[in-house]
Amino acid sequence: MGWTTKDIPDLTGRVAVVTGANGGLGYETARELVRKGAHVVMAARDTAKAAQARGSILAEIPNASLELQRLDLASLDSVRQAAAEILTRHDVIDLLVNNAGVMGVPEQGTVDGFEMQLGTNHLGHFGLTALLLPALLRSPGARVIAVTSTGRHFGRPVDPANPHLHGSYGPWRAYGQSKLANVHFALELQRRLEAAGVPVQSLVVHPGFTHTDLQARSVRETEGGASQRFFHDSVQRFGMSPARGALTLLRAATDPAASGGQLYTPRYVNWGPPVQRPLFGRSRNRAAMSTLWKVSERETGITFDVAVIRDETR
Ligand SMILES: NC(=O)c1ccc[n+]([C@@H]2O[C@H](COP(=O)([O-])OP(=O)(O)OC[C@H]3O[C@@H](n4cnc5c(N)ncnc54)[C@H](OP(=O)(O)O)[C@@H]3O)[C@@H](O)[C@H]2O)c1
Repeated sequence: MGWTTKDIPDLTGRVAVVTGANGGLGYETARELVRKGAHVVMAARDTAKAAQARGSILAEIPNASLELQRLDLASLDSVRQAAAEILTRHDVIDLLVNNAGVMGVPEQGTVDGFEMQLGTNHLGHFGLTALLLPALLRSPGARVIAVTSTGRHFGRPVDPANPHLHGSYGPWRAYGQSKLANVHFALELQRRLEAAGVPVQSLVVHPGFTHTDLQARSVRETEGGASQRFFHDSVQRFGMSPARGALTLLRAATDPAASGGQLYTPRYVNWGPPVQRPLFGRSRNRAAMSTLWKVSERETGITFDVAVIRDETR
């Protein structure tokens, strides 16, 4: 059988922020969290799609406690504004699911000139997490969830001299780099949280091969790129449903037995119920983690010092 949504504990009184909650895995995650009583901030770029997503959840769960927050992770101004707005409404956040992402898209820049996949998948979430940390610290046991992919296995650590892959861009190279960065950020965050002696925990998940808009978008944006089409065709035939894929996120986010620094994936790499799996190889490269942290602070201009934020937070 394995772990299912029936195993999610009661979440009444908990506040969760889910990025990319207007579709795919983020939507499923938001829906199951509110079903169990959490209040969910649906942080999304396309607000019309988000309003529709909220309506669908409310049609199914009329007492769902949901709010919409505009967030474009490809703009640091938007990240700052979203964090400030969330903090005016919520002193305490119990769960931050850094789910939103893009995959295998052509070379393009964010508003701040970052390579789009690193900018959206990692740097935007890095800034958001830093800015929301005061509210996470006020929870008795908050969790931050990063979402990686099997792309982490071919991703290279961020090169401080060229994080945006100028002159060496490839859509899969950039995706792999961003998804390895998701793991390195999660583990380095956990190390720093532990060092600061605070109860927030950082976990990472790979959801498995799941049929969402991720693959279709990569085909649209590359105007029919061959490898993008291959994944799109395959996922339609062999992919899990978004509800199945979201189980890894939900387990890492809510299972009382899960703890900081852990990776959750489907049992059979890309398919199956969510289980904890060891991290190995380049995922555990400590030097790369600390380099990533420094590069992320430099690029975003956001200082992320857990101990300082702890001392400033009442
Ligand atoms: N599906 C899979 O097989 C698979 C496998 C491994 C890992 N993942 C990871 O799972 C995560 C969720 O992907 P998904 O499969 O659910 O894909 P999806 O259906 O395409 O959803 C991606 C979400 O990210 C949002 N997003 C994209 N760019 C954004 C930006 N600049 N600012 C804010 N939100 C943005 C999208 O919002 P808009 O529609 O408003 O743009 C959408 O809500 C990603 O991190 C992906 O790398 C997925």
